[in-house]
Amino acid sequence: MSVHQVLRMGDSLLKLVAKPIDNFTDPGLATLINDMWETMEVSQGVGLAAPQIGFSVRLIVLGFEENERYPDESVVPKQVLINPVIQPLSDEMEDGWEGCLSVPGMRGLVSRYTRIEYQAKNEFGEEIKGNAEGFHARVIQHELDHLDGILYPQRMKNLDYFGFDEELARSGLFSKQK
Ligand code: NI
Repeated sequence: MSVHQVLRMGDSLLKLVAKPIDNFTDPGLATLINDMWETMEVSQGVGLAAPQIGFSVRLIVLGFEENERYPDESVVPKQVLINPVIQPLSDEMEDGWEGCLSVPGMRGLVSRYTRIEYQAKNEFGEEIKGNAEGFHARVIQHELDHLDGILYPQRMKNLDYFGFDEELARSGLFSKQK
């Protein structure tokens, strides 16, 4: 296993539409997934998409029990989602603060669907599906965007709510402790 460097916004690889995975017996896939978990944990991320470490394939990992960067959010189950597809369960959307390992040190307020249904393959190529809501649904939507070359600032409607972590906290717009 190894920790990879996370590509940052501006890197052209982050703008690509990633390719589906169809070979689930390739030992390279297991290695990539392990590397993604390790890279995500070292970076204190709550999710990571393969393109963020330079692999343009439709694979995301997410989930945590406790996270320093999002201390107020409840547990998100650990999941490997390959070739994920999502469907909103209603039109309801909510605003929430997001960060991204590819946009280090910054946060932005982004509107996302509150409840979604997802369908994907797991690391063994088995079909999985489920529902997600709140922060879990937000993380899946954020990571899935990475597979389509979209970073969260591109989803923002009001750039007044975009800035550096510490400055936002100082301004009272965003508080890590709440
Ligand atoms: Ni991200």
